[in-house]
Amino acid sequence: MEKSTPRLVTYTLSIFAAITGLLFGYDTGVISGALLFVKKDFILTIYEEQLVVSVMLLTAGIATLFSGYFTDKLGRKITILIGSILFIAGALFLAFAMSFHDLIIGRVITGLAIGISMTAAPMYIAEIAPAKIRGGLVTTNQLFVTIGILLAFIMNYAFSGIEDGWRWMFGFGMVPAVIQFIALACFPKTPRFLASKGKFKQALSVLKSIREADQAEKELEKIKGSLKKEKTKFKELLHSDIWPAFTVSIALHSFQQLTGINAVIYYAPQIFLSTGFTSTHAAILATIGVGVVNVLMTIIALPLLDRWGRRPLFFTGLFGMIVTLVAIGLSFLFGIQSKFIAIISIVSIMAFVGSFAISLGPMSWLMPNEMLPIKVKGRAVSIAIFTNWFCNFIVSGTFLTLVHFIGIGSTFSLYAAIALFAWVFFYVCLPETKNKLLEDIKVNFFISRKN
Ligand code: BGC
Repeated sequence: MEKSTPRLVTYTLSIFAAITGLLFGYDTGVISGALLFVKKDFILTIYEEQLVVSVMLLTAGIATLFSGYFTDKLGRKITILIGSILFIAGALFLAFAMSFHDLIIGRVITGLAIGISMTAAPMYIAEIAPAKIRGGLVTTNQLFVTIGILLAFIMNYAFSGIEDGWRWMFGFGMVPAVIQFIALACFPKTPRFLASKGKFKQALSVLKSIREADQAEKELEKIKGSLKKEKTKFKELLHSDIWPAFTVSIALHSFQQLTGINAVIYYAPQIFLSTGFTSTHAAILATIGVGVVNVLMTIIALPLLDRWGRRPLFFTGLFGMIVTLVAIGLSFLFGIQSKFIAIISIVSIMAFVGSFAISLGPMSWLMPNEMLPIKVKGRAVSIAIFTNWFCNFIVSGTFLTLVHFIGIGSTFSLYAAIALFAWVFFYVCLPETKNKLLEDIKVNFFISRKN
């Protein structure tokens, strides 16, 4: 019993921090359904429709750039709390929107919430988790993203038959945010943040609640050591000790988006319709199938991250992404008219999402928090995450145009080529961080995989 208590505390803290992921996933998924109704009620032009979708990503990106300041100055916990208040405000604005402008304000507020808290939540979890289960724990945030997306797909389906159902779709997002706010307000700050502010006594008492007594003392000493050693400032991100980890972090976030995951998440119903689905109803149901595969494969990844290690899982998943992207590309290029090939393309879309869920999905949110040294972590991680929103904005903002000009087949082949490039790049420089204390992780190009 005594032994299990610190673990129980760590799991509880992680789950409530990870509600941030659920909120992000929900706001990612809800728009595809809500938009179908909102555009009719407010008679939106295509330009206005696109703005309602993309303004959230843009503001998330901008907010992310400031999130490093918040996480370093106010701490990871307070930043998540500010995020929950913004999520509540955004959901309220959207649920009671009376005009296109209200919708934009609601999406901007939600984007701010996502930007700051999606930086803080994985960081909070990475800093309280013991090394042995850190991979799985940080990935609960990604698991919650996938659950949020699935929940939104289900809510879209459930509320689509009700008058003003879109208000409920948006408003429902408030519920997890309120729960998170109340729970997290009572939780401690992370020991690493407390130590970075010189509050060693408090840091030790938090460590004692989440580690065995002797380990707590040892870990505090390590943290103190790393604070002393690393006199690195923001401008010194290009310092030889930092830039390899910084570059890999940026690459993880960029390739996560440039390989096309959100082309599928945002536009799945349209893609399914192009494969020959005759009813929208069936296409939306198939989209729920995508959501289910995403959640299940993330659940499978959780224990494997710490058992197999990051690299084996990452390269298996990324290889799967390449193969499935090629299959989707070829089937659209050469024979979607045939029923057999249409089935291959649908199975490949599901398998693509599943492969993402064990590789670039979890790893992009996990590994930057492991690789980057504490002194620059807040700011460096926030810049890496900024590239995520930016590339997400580019991919989701160009997908329909690309399909229009070069076709779905060539568009997915382009994502396949990017994924192949990513495989080679990461093969050379992605470190193995399994089972290591954060303070012991170093990234060196070409040799990191042997660490
Ligand atoms: C990505 C999102 C994506 C989601 C899909 C996340 O890791 O950041 O952009 O929609 O995974 O599960």
